[in-house]
Amino acid sequence: MCGIIGCNGVEAAVPVLINGLERMEYRGYDSSGIAVLSQGKIITEKKKGRVAALVKRLEQSTNLDAQIGIGHTRWATHGKPSDENAHPHQSGKFTLVHNGIIENHAELKEQYLKLTKTKSDTDTEIAVHLLNRFYSDNCLEAIAHTVRLLKGSFALAVICEDEPDRLFCVRQASPLVVGIGDGTFAASDTSAISEKIHTLYRMNDGEIAVLSKDSIEFFDFGLNKITKTPDEFEKNSYTADKGNCEHFMLKEIYEQPEAIRKTVDAYLNENVFDLQLKIEKPERFYIVACGSAYHTGLVGRQVFERLTKIPVSVETASEFRYSRPLVNGNTPVIIISQSGETADSLAALREAKKRGAKTVSIVNVKESSIASESDFVLLTKAGPEIAVATTKAYGAQLAALYLLGIYFAEAFGTADKNELEKMKKALTELHKTVSAALGCEELIKEIAQRLKDIDRAYFIGRGLGFAAAAEGSLKLKEISYIHCEAYAAGEMKHGTISLIEKGTTVVAMNTQKELTHKLQSNIDEVRSRGARVIAVTSAESKIDADETITVPEVHPLFAVSTQIVPVQLLSYHIARLRGCDIDKPRNLAKSVTVE
Ligand code: F6R
Repeated sequence: MCGIIGCNGVEAAVPVLINGLERMEYRGYDSSGIAVLSQGKIITEKKKGRVAALVKRLEQSTNLDAQIGIGHTRWATHGKPSDENAHPHQSGKFTLVHNGIIENHAELKEQYLKLTKTKSDTDTEIAVHLLNRFYSDNCLEAIAHTVRLLKGSFALAVICEDEPDRLFCVRQASPLVVGIGDGTFAASDTSAISEKIHTLYRMNDGEIAVLSKDSIEFFDFGLNKITKTPDEFEKNSYTADKGNCEHFMLKEIYEQPEAIRKTVDAYLNENVFDLQLKIEKPERFYIVACGSAYHTGLVGRQVFERLTKIPVSVETASEFRYSRPLVNGNTPVIIISQSGETADSLAALREAKKRGAKTVSIVNVKESSIASESDFVLLTKAGPEIAVATTKAYGAQLAALYLLGIYFAEAFGTADKNELEKMKKALTELHKTVSAALGCEELIKEIAQRLKDIDRAYFIGRGLGFAAAAEGSLKLKEISYIHCEAYAAGEMKHGTISLIEKGTTVVAMNTQKELTHKLQSNIDEVRSRGARVIAVTSAESKIDADETITVPEVHPLFAVSTQIVPVQLLSYHIARLRGCDIDKPRNLAKSVTVE
């Protein structure tokens, strides 16, 4: 949520900043801006809209020859998307960019800046005015003074006209990394700078970094010097390449089999868990996540409970941390997050650790905060996911949960050994079955043509089917803006069925053979009231609906992995026909680093 980029000592700062912003645009895309320090003066350009709009604006600017600068791509929290609210913000000789929320901005204004006129509606602007207010002749001291007063979450990159050779960065509860290569660099996300650096430092909360042209010094907020050792990182050769696909989302749906294969291959036969994951048979598992990752948790619960006979609570991270969870040393907490930076999930992880729980994370980004702070990390191998709506990372998270479920069942001796062997075999074949499920795309295109103008839809399912329905509903609503709801199929008649009328669209997910008859009754109930039902089912479970999408048979516990594919494709094609901005849906961002 918001992307920060900074550089110092580079040959040309503007292209470095723009390249970084383009790579981090997934973090927020309602406005963007840069500020560079050239011949003792800071020049700022910012613009509402995408980075492309900023690039256009820059074409008209001259005199942007600079070696040091900062940039920002925004997801609005305080103040609507506009040129004025876009970052960087300036006061006196200081200019800064910010990711996070300064929760006490109103109190600080009242206490220190009563007479200061602000130009924007942002919380951020208060921070830059404070820098100016506390500055006499030492930037670092003004920064330390300011950040000691700020409450909330903030990653900052600051430049000052009086110190043209130094870039200042701060991290408190918002991600920021810094690195050294041909110059020094800062970014919200390692992948934005990984190709430019040989040495990386992940900043911790409460740290200030001072980036000179070829070295970096670290301080705490009391300005005590800190010695840090570099972190490992992977060079990311990713280029924003959609291949033959019109959108990243479609490309990533098609990369799902590979994401599953790589994740399974990395762990199934390597005994990595045996070496590192020492967990005694617990009294309960907690699975905590947000959005689609939470939906994979709903699948995980059923897989774990079936295989381990241990109860599992699945919680949304934003609720978990404030619910005084009954977590202790005997209730491992599994955090699922593609980005590894989701603020609520990170806070939930810290809450779980505080309460003495062992923590396991399922994360797609190795260098992320959640990966580095949990006791054990299971890295999904989905590769960079660019479309805001997750597809391949979701598929890889499911595979990771199957792996963990099998691992725990083996470790605790809670499932039949032959059954576990069968599951392992099925898991090594899963990518092929998911690949075969992609064969439904032509049928999906036809269905999408018929559904493109609907204004609402209901997704229903039982058992695992409900978990798939929840994800299907989220996928369609977030990219097509059609109002969607997901229900446990048996719940419809307790209220929501009153909304069903002639032509209402209902998508029914039939994941469990043994529940097919029950789901059929629910389908019949809505059809007899006029609903048009599209059923997703596997080859061996026949179901009667207005349209049926059949996917290949798979191990019953893995059915969501195949059945989600047609629903992802359906969402994609409906959104495409509606002319939606599929890879960057309105109001959303890929990495949600504010609460
Ligand atoms: C929906 C989607 C989101 C994320 C959620 C958690 O398509 O992508 O619901 O699943 O914001 O993000 P991560 O997994 O990065 O913690």
